[in-house]
Amino acid sequence: MCGIVGILSGEDVAGRLLDGLKRLEYRGYDSAGIATDNDGAIERRRASGKLVNLANELAAHPLPGKTGIAHTRWATHGGPTTNNAHPHATGEVAVVHNGIIENFKPLRDELIARGRTFTSETDTEVVAHLVSEKIEAGMDPIAAVRDVLPRLHGAFALAILFRQHPDLLIGARLGSPLVVGYGEGEMYLGSDALALAPLTQRIAYLDEGDWVVLTRDGAQVYDRENTPVERAITLSGITGEVISKGNHKHYMLKEIYEQPIVVAQTLRSYLKRMEGEITLPIPEFDLSTIKRVTIVACGTSFYAGMVAKYWFEQFARVPVDLDVASEFRYREPVMEEGGLALFISQSGETADTLAALRHAKAEGQKIAVVVNVPTSTMAREADLLLPTHAGPEIGVASTKAFTCQLAVLAALAANLAHAKGLLSKDQEREIVRHLAEAPAALNGALAYDEAIEAMAHKIAGARDVLYLGRGTDYPLALEGALKLKEISYIHAEGYAAGEMKHGPIALIDEHVPVIVIAPSGPLFDKTVSNMQEVMARGGKVVLISDYDGIQAAGEGCMATITMPKVHPLIAPLVYAVPVQLLAYHVAVLKGTDVDQPRNLAKSVTVE
Ligand code: F6R
Repeated sequence: MCGIVGILSGEDVAGRLLDGLKRLEYRGYDSAGIATDNDGAIERRRASGKLVNLANELAAHPLPGKTGIAHTRWATHGGPTTNNAHPHATGEVAVVHNGIIENFKPLRDELIARGRTFTSETDTEVVAHLVSEKIEAGMDPIAAVRDVLPRLHGAFALAILFRQHPDLLIGARLGSPLVVGYGEGEMYLGSDALALAPLTQRIAYLDEGDWVVLTRDGAQVYDRENTPVERAITLSGITGEVISKGNHKHYMLKEIYEQPIVVAQTLRSYLKRMEGEITLPIPEFDLSTIKRVTIVACGTSFYAGMVAKYWFEQFARVPVDLDVASEFRYREPVMEEGGLALFISQSGETADTLAALRHAKAEGQKIAVVVNVPTSTMAREADLLLPTHAGPEIGVASTKAFTCQLAVLAALAANLAHAKGLLSKDQEREIVRHLAEAPAALNGALAYDEAIEAMAHKIAGARDVLYLGRGTDYPLALEGALKLKEISYIHAEGYAAGEMKHGPIALIDEHVPVIVIAPSGPLFDKTVSNMQEVMARGGKVVLISDYDGIQAAGEGCMATITMPKVHPLIAPLVYAVPVQLLAYHVAVLKGTDVDQPRNLAKSVTVE
């Protein structure tokens, strides 16, 4: 989850390393640092907190040097202090690291016993000392790294700089992504192609277990057996443009507002509107034999998967297993060979989801992924890549990626039903028609932004908030609660509306707002009954429904939020908007850091 950039150049690199870090800040923003090789001495600048603190430090104390490594941190071992900020250095080497060295404790004890002194609480510092010891004993840096790598257990990406070798950087990848960038007389290392976009588009992706020796003239990659290997150079196609907030105060709000456009963009690549047909990017991928689907994801992507479970079972009559990725492997899931395992991820790099993907692949599953980053590891390891076209999502809280995931999943569910012969031509045409209405309906939902902003103060003072929904509105209740807690820091929980009476209703009093998501439709009356049970106990309800629903049940609510009336298929996309906007406005009222909430990072590449 940390971000890494390295540059080998003929000019000073600190400024460009800082630019690279700006593009990686989504990976973590607890601290940041840069080290360079400056005339035979390793020099560092580090600062705790946001990148702006490092920028100020560099402005006050410029850092010369033509070879350098840089890091933005999401803390795992040791608090977010300057001392724990990377790079970690000895006199001989400096190291930046993403991931976790799981056996760092015995390694650290062993190094201390040999007289080494540690200056941080991090797991990373052991790497600096292990490599340094060997160099101090006379070993050359390449041999030193080669000898140390097998001693490190866990998941990591590393970049290492050497005092006596200003024309050298070494990188290594095991479990965390790392790419090599090729420039003109310059070479680069980066956590992803995005970090290197202003520097080069010529990128080679390292495989698991690879390590790479970089000089200004090129790179030599070695696999985990230390055999020299070639890794293809591809054009990333990512431009160096910095994504702006436009007229919006936060990326999150901008991304909420982009939803009509990006959902339309996503649907365009799955729907043939004129023919009334749904297509997948690989039309010949055979779904007709799929007997079971296993859906695995984390966080918001998991809630998209939860909605999809309803659709797959309803349309395609295929049983669906649904797992949170961090739990998946540990329950030793039974998967029949040839089943479809579906992974959903905005980033395509989430460590838990990726580990689950590899597990399912080893179990003989066909692998489909719904990802927003088409160059991501998951995209590259899938049999069937189903891209969302949401564009870069910068706000840490996922918004537009979620609705685009839902659009793809609805198309996939219909396609599966079609492949199984369960969807008539007319039914398929109907689904296409409803999905095609989603962008306009999303616009309709956004029209209530001001009304939602005006009632947000009713939630902002609460200590706890509950969200209720039934059917596909249940995952939305969970998503609403997640959005609220992660950006406003208010404790919130989502429940299946009918589950309230089995325990959570004990929490209800006049201080706990309850947000009820209930579009009119077959489950409306049942959800409203649960809402009445809450109101009968003094609960303060905010009802989110369409005009008919609010007419029928809005009386006595603390507030109501009106949504356009839509077909149930697209209701999860449309009702995502009010829960996103409500969380956003509450967070703004509370004055939190909406785009970079505390303790979080956008891409979670540790398990
Ligand atoms: C919540 C949020 C997270 C992510 C989760 C999975 O707003 O953004 O819960 O959904 O970390 O990330 P991806 O989708 O990149 O695998």
